[in-house]
Amino acid sequence: MEQEPRPTRFDFHGVSMTKYFTDNWENVQNFQARPEDIVIATYPKAGTTWMSYILDLLHFGQICPERQESIPIHQRVPFLEISMPEQQTTGKDLADKLPTTPRLIKSHLPVQFMPKSFWEQNSRIVYMARNAKDSAVSYFHFGRMNRIVPEPGDWNTYLQDFMDGKVTFGSWFDHVNGWWEKKQTHPKILYLFYEDLIEDSSREIDRLCSFLGLSCSVEEKQSVLTQIKFDNMKQNKMTNYSTVTVMDHKVSPFMRKGKVGDWRNHFTVAQDEQFNEVYKQRMKNSTLQFRTEV
Ligand code: A3P
Repeated sequence: MEQEPRPTRFDFHGVSMTKYFTDNWENVQNFQARPEDIVIATYPKAGTTWMSYILDLLHFGQICPERQESIPIHQRVPFLEISMPEQQTTGKDLADKLPTTPRLIKSHLPVQFMPKSFWEQNSRIVYMARNAKDSAVSYFHFGRMNRIVPEPGDWNTYLQDFMDGKVTFGSWFDHVNGWWEKKQTHPKILYLFYEDLIEDSSREIDRLCSFLGLSCSVEEKQSVLTQIKFDNMKQNKMTNYSTVTVMDHKVSPFMRKGKVGDWRNHFTVAQDEQFNEVYKQRMKNSTLQFRTEV
């Protein structure tokens, strides 16, 4: 079958998007959330899959272990806004049909684009954020290996696009700040950081359990902690995206490095200085604090 060309980006209500995330817009906006739904909201490359797997294990790891061996994570936790012709179904349809309670649903939408029923139903939302420099590096390599996002070009060009918000799902700055502001008035958002999860996964799982009202035995937690280790997820066909045909893992594996601070291997001194300047400007009114090292 002939491959579809890579999509192009366009301005969509002020956010850079591609057709794969806007074609099903009306249906996505009319999505009927339920109070028990749990959304994993992130800017791309913040550890969405990691968080999806953690939540899936916490909820269903004990009661339905066979699910872990037979259903890839992107089907257990559908990507709400995605719609691609080569897939038979949309993320929204998959979410509608999820047989589980709660339904775990992934989204990269900026906060202003979230379907309103999530707010009306007061569904819980776990927002995961990752520092801008590592996000940019990870997104660059993801663009190289994934046909459903535009060609990233060379690193220098890409970094400029990232700073300008000319990447799919728009500006990192707007995304992390938009959700952070919403969190200040909405108690059903838990705002977590990739760097914290790297530093102490056990502590972050405790925070998740308390937010979700889950109790987790010592053994269960230990089992989750083992399964969510980078190397184990990288070997696991159900979590490493090896079953997804639009990705070329020979160019760059989806489970790439899983580190804080890999940006140091990519940013030149000049790029770092320019990035820090833009960062200072764009974050000057924000109380959000990120760590670029742990
Ligand atoms: P890198 O490209 O820096 O390695 P997303 O799921 O949002 O697309 O995020 C993907 C990023 O999360 C990748 O980052 C990936 O390696 C990292 N990741 C996935 N699982 C992880 C884990 N168990 N531990 C640490 N990082 C993980």
